[in-house]
Amino acid sequence: MKSPKHYLLHIMLLSALCSCDSGDIQDKVYQVDEKGYTVKVTARVSNLSEWEGTGYTLAVAGFTGDSKFALLQKALPSSVEDGSAVSIVLSNISSEVQTVEVSLTNSLRKRIISLATINMAEHVGKTAHDTIRLDLGTVDAGRFGVLQAGVFNRACIQCHGGNGRSAAGLNLTEGNAVASLVDVPSTRREGMLRVASGNVENSLLHQILNEGGENLLSHNHTEILSSQYKSNLEEVNGLIDGWIEHLVP
Ligand code: HEC
Repeated sequence: MKSPKHYLLHIMLLSALCSCDSGDIQDKVYQVDEKGYTVKVTARVSNLSEWEGTGYTLAVAGFTGDSKFALLQKALPSSVEDGSAVSIVLSNISSEVQTVEVSLTNSLRKRIISLATINMAEHVGKTAHDTIRLDLGTVDAGRFGVLQAGVFNRACIQCHGGNGRSAAGLNLTEGNAVASLVDVPSTRREGMLRVASGNVENSLLHQILNEGGENLLSHNHTEILSSQYKSNLEEVNGLIDGWIEHLVP
């Protein structure tokens, strides 16, 4: 089962520990060696190429407790044909890693937004030989798909279309959000568009989610967003703005 590399590591570690008289230490060495978790993520992805040249990468990434930066990550290939099946294996995941996430990260491996999360504490006791599997099904991994899955589905649809009611007549559920937002007049702020294609500053969506927008609606939407995205609020806002900016009027 063990590769020659493993044996070599053992021999080296054991010889380094020879002068110690306790058998416990040897046991510990053995454990460390076995501790690399492996996660395998499968999905059918489309629109990944939209991130090419932006510095952003969709990746399977391991994060320690509070850090916004991935300790290790493996990128999904950006040049796959839309709808093709991809399979990413992230191995040698140490016990420091608390979550493995399917995450959009920037060039510094900083988390922008996550589409799915595996809580490693739920898999304690597994060894490197038991792969933790996650199948995401079909994923729109482009600019809008990431927003839908990472923001609207998580922070908005409970009031906007998810429970059979749409606050302000705005439905942000999958398949409806674009038609409900893009170049559609606001029902609450006369003369404004919910989202003005290509025009971030004039989009109500941008205004209500950023500083100064707290009182534009009867519901404080900056707070809705900041309560959901504690460590990556700025990144999430940047993602929304980037989507608006790339819409062609
Ligand atoms: C707790 C419920 C709730 C959540 C969660 C929520 N909203 Fe709202 N939203 C409302 C209500 C209520 C209104 C209408 C406010 C008013 O009448 O002034 C509204 C209005 C809006 C409007 C203005 C619509 C228009 O026609 O002017 C937009 C845009 C909007 N929400 C986007 C979002 C987004 C994006 C999210 C997720 C980040 C979100 N909302 C989350 C309750 C919610």
